[in-house]
Amino acid sequence: MSARILLAYATRYGSTQQVAEAIANKLRESGLVVDLEPMRQVRTLAGYGAVVLGAPLYVLHWHKEAHDFLSKHQEALGKQPVAIFALGPLHDDEAERQGSREQLDKELAKFPWLVPVAIEVFGGKYDPAKLHFSDKLIASLPASPLHNVPAGDVRNWTAIDAWASNLPAKLELKKATA
Ligand SMILES: Cc1cc2nc3c(=O)[nH]c(=O)nc-3n(C[C@H](O)[C@H](O)[C@H](O)COP(=O)(O)O)c2cc1C
Repeated sequence: MSARILLAYATRYGSTQQVAEAIANKLRESGLVVDLEPMRQVRTLAGYGAVVLGAPLYVLHWHKEAHDFLSKHQEALGKQPVAIFALGPLHDDEAERQGSREQLDKELAKFPWLVPVAIEVFGGKYDPAKLHFSDKLIASLPASPLHNVPAGDVRNWTAIDAWASNLPAKLELKKATA
């Protein structure tokens, strides 16, 4: 199939948007036509042959806009290849990554009609100095996993590039010839 891809993302502090941009660039390098859009701005999936969705995990949940997107576009998403990524873990630690993956899997299980061709969790970015008020409050709780966590960025751009390079085959897309 030769087709246009929609890469739709949600973000609170911008790190997922930057990952979405990197994935879009990689897909374009493979000759694909990619529309990169914030999820909340997408009106229709008409004209797309595949969809890639990316959003961060917050307090054990996938970003609310991702839930809204899946609900709103269920019918169209059920008919085309969908790949999914989430940002989350704040340390380069396999057990933490696995925990975030379980959070994402639990969230996706709420949409049993969705059968993604690829699902991945990437490390995230965190800066306590830049948090909005409500997130600052959560992070300040002694029981919070964010308590006293320093600023960091564990996005692995090599892993992100590698995932994006494998996507066209998984989405069964060929580069546009026109
Ligand atoms: C208040 C708060 C709660 C978070 N909760 C989780 C979580 O439950 N699981 C997880 O894997 N990551 C969690 N994270 C990490 C974020 O997913 C990570 O910082 C991500 O890169 C943020 O993406 P964004 O910059 O696109 O908003 C949390 C971060 C904050 C600030």
